Amino acid sequence: MKRTLIRNIGCLQTPTGSYSHKGSKQGANEKYADAAIVIEDGVISQITEGGKLPEGPFDEEIDAEGNLVTPGLVDGHTHLIFGGYRQHEIAMKLAGADYLDILRAGGGILDTVRKTREASVEELYGKAYAFLDEMMGFGVTSCEAKSGYGLDRENELKMLQVIHALDENHPMDVTATFMGAHAVPPEYEGRGDEYIRMCCEELMPEIRERGLAEFCDIFCEDSVFNAGQSRTYLEKAAELGFGLKIHADEIEAIGGSQLAGELEAASAEHLIAIEEEGMDAMAAGGTTAMLLPATSFYLDKTYAPARRMVEKSIPVAIASDFNPGSCPSLNLQFAINLGSLKYKLTPEEVLTAVTINPACACGKGDQTGTLEVGKQADLVIWDAPDFEMVCYRFGSNLAKHVMKKGVMMK
Ligand code: NIG
Ligand code: FE
Repeated sequence: MKRTLIRNIGCLQTPTGSYSHKGSKQGANEKYADAAIVIEDGVISQITEGGKLPEGPFDEEIDAEGNLVTPGLVDGHTHLIFGGYRQHEIAMKLAGADYLDILRAGGGILDTVRKTREASVEELYGKAYAFLDEMMGFGVTSCEAKSGYGLDRENELKMLQVIHALDENHPMDVTATFMGAHAVPPEYEGRGDEYIRMCCEELMPEIRERGLAEFCDIFCEDSVFNAGQSRTYLEKAAELGFGLKIHADEIEAIGGSQLAGELEAASAEHLIAIEEEGMDAMAAGGTTAMLLPATSFYLDKTYAPARRMVEKSIPVAIASDFNPGSCPSLNLQFAINLGSLKYKLTPEEVLTAVTINPACACGKGDQTGTLEVGKQADLVIWDAPDFEMVCYRFGSNLAKHVMKKGVMMK
């Protein structure tokens, strides 16, 4: 057995418990001063505070130098696998086109679909492996990754196989989500219902049988998939045993958040344009709000009503939404800054939103998301004395050391 000691932790800050935190619990963090952590074979076996040193011997001792230690960050929403980039969209945006104009003109997501279909498994794998390294450097120790740039059997399976291989081979834990319903592919133009039927009858059962995804997600949006199509897709996913996610109320509120609550989806994502009824349904259904403030920033939109969601007892999570169109940044620390500045959440609420709440929304709340005895030693030693500093400094990377399952990765 390998025993590791992390000592001289100025402040150990963590939510506790393996459940989604909502209402007043959203901001309930424990803070231990002068703390130490003992790790046995990658799992936390003891936490002490007040300068009390755990008993040795240890195979490895790490000095946190009086800094802040938190759980490793969990990025609960990414489109990690994609061919090419879309920097050429800058010119279209400067000429006045918005996100849905570009998509309706056959660009946007459909442009990335063309490039992803052309890319080999090896290319996609190598590119995403490097992204995961970069994410881990920012303090992320678990993430979610969606398919959705294949939009046919061969290429959706290709994307999911890449995600699966990354989960196996990279230290990052990667949760796989099937998002075949990300856009209507060109082969099905004007036949969205038929495409949804194909996803439900052909793709989902095969993906389920081969164990290639844990969740299903759909883009419920004006000019993409409507609420009726989203219901058909998610009801089928639930019947097959997938967890449910939905891109809802990003640009227009067309019923996605109500549907999420009604179907007790694990999470509804974006929610920039959500209205009161949508929030009531999500609160009733126990659905986590997966908020993506860097997308609001990049699309120059307003920010989801996070404060109101906490008041309404909806568990709030914050993720990057890393993708080549609406958010070409994988820096979750920037989303933390925006969570504080734009959502006006407290530092404690923000920490919960990037640790235990997304962990639970990805089905990993038992293993990660808090620093407690019995959990994986997934943690960050920050170049900061407290989490206020992490919320406040932006544009720098404050993750000094990152540990995944007891192994120092940075
Ligand atoms: O979450 N909104 C839909 N999907 C992504 C964007 C994908 C893309 O533009 O390539 C999102 O923002
Ligand atoms: Fe997304």
